[in-house]
Amino acid sequence: MGIARTIPRAPGSLPLLGHALSLRRHPLAFLVSLPAHGDVVRVKLGPAAALVLCDPDLVQKVLLDDRTFDKGGPLIERGREGLGNGLATCPHGDHRRQRRLTQQAFQTQRMPAYAQMMSKQIAEAVGRWGDGDIVDVLTAMQTITARTTLATMFADTSDASLTDLLADFNVFSRGVYKRMFMPPPLHKLPTPGNRRYHQARARLRQAIGSVIENHQARDDNSGDLLSILLAASDDGQGLSDAEITDQVMSFLYAGIETTAAVLAWALHQLAQHPDLEARLHTEVDAVMPKGAPATFDLLPQLQFTNRIITETLRLHPPGWMLTRIATTDTQLAGYPVEKGTTIVYSPYLIHHQAALYPDPERFDPDRWNGRTTRGRNSALIPFGGGTRKCIGDTFGLTEAALTLATITAQWRLEPTPGATVRPVPGLILNPHGLAMRITARTTSNPAAPRST
Ligand code: HEM
Repeated sequence: MGIARTIPRAPGSLPLLGHALSLRRHPLAFLVSLPAHGDVVRVKLGPAAALVLCDPDLVQKVLLDDRTFDKGGPLIERGREGLGNGLATCPHGDHRRQRRLTQQAFQTQRMPAYAQMMSKQIAEAVGRWGDGDIVDVLTAMQTITARTTLATMFADTSDASLTDLLADFNVFSRGVYKRMFMPPPLHKLPTPGNRRYHQARARLRQAIGSVIENHQARDDNSGDLLSILLAASDDGQGLSDAEITDQVMSFLYAGIETTAAVLAWALHQLAQHPDLEARLHTEVDAVMPKGAPATFDLLPQLQFTNRIITETLRLHPPGWMLTRIATTDTQLAGYPVEKGTTIVYSPYLIHHQAALYPDPERFDPDRWNGRTTRGRNSALIPFGGGTRKCIGDTFGLTEAALTLATITAQWRLEPTPGATVRPVPGLILNPHGLAMRITARTTSNPAAPRST
């Protein structure tokens, strides 16, 4: 079948472990090194082989054919064990029904109302910051995205147990990634890491049970995602309680972690580039009314803000590595691919190629002058593609722009001396060690006078 050519192998495979060690210890450097070996490169994860796609058009081909290249492979399988069979992890056979059902909550016309709720939640969260505070920026951003996701998707505005929820999601995210490299029999051993993972997962499902119960007790059908899911359980489409919990778990996780990572990386980059920070201040000062949060109607004017977000999505894509499984014998780039083969696609790998982005490690929002993430561009894939493309892309971009503009209009975030920021790959690519000092701009940074 196909042309019998041998797929190039990544160098450095170890007996038994294959490339698992490189992928555990230096995953980003390892991924970025692969295109030098070919458009498709074979890696070994322990005994199992996987094919990594290094060419953007091949990635598109795989993403556009989700029947042949279904959700699967170690990352998705571990994700499915953890999150359940929700929209993000379900196989092709379940996807159409689930997507049709949940899509209603993401219709374009709903965005202005969501944005209004977001602006309120963002203003409240940022309003609690104090001049001179040192904050863990990732946690601060997750707090904002958790509040907005709970309010918009689940009509839940009580933030009583938010801290526990976020801590549990963090343990969960790292755990899913680590488990990808463990043989399944080891997943159940009573090690401290496994115990922490199982406890976090159990607590998350319990917390989600409470979100659902509270929603049912309020009996409000405000058209939010949870109302839609609950209505579907009554109207013969038959979503079971477990299926609803799986959906809520998937949407909460995806809604909280991804946008928070983008915001945290963007604030880190701005602190590293005072020239860009000053340009952003000029924009938000000119566009936004003094002391008020950013609102939906202002988004078209926040063009530099949007370019910063696009460049952050390029340089630090939260969904940095994803897997698929070949459901039938097929071909990729003329190479035969057997049924059951794991396929890896990595927005990080594609976005860091010098052939696509000159000087790829440089944070340069001006790459996007006159271009947007919504254009067809196989070289920019932070939201994936095809029928499994992120359902929350517009929601996430809106939330990121509103949050970044609101924060930078009011606060300056500076690195704390000695802090070392590094990417920590889990299910999401998060910045670790991002502690920053926040100072109120209106009192301490008169450098960019307000235009109104
Ligand atoms: C900037 C923020 C975001 C980024 C970078 C992002 C990234 C992604 C990516 C890469 C995928 C495809 C995964 C794959 O191919 O296997 C995806 C799917 C998905 N995302 Fe997002 N996401 C973001 C925000 C959100 C938000 C805010 C929500 C929900 C509120 C969300 C919910 C989902 C869901 C449910 C899927 C699965 C879609 C399907 O399979 O039909 N995402 N996201």
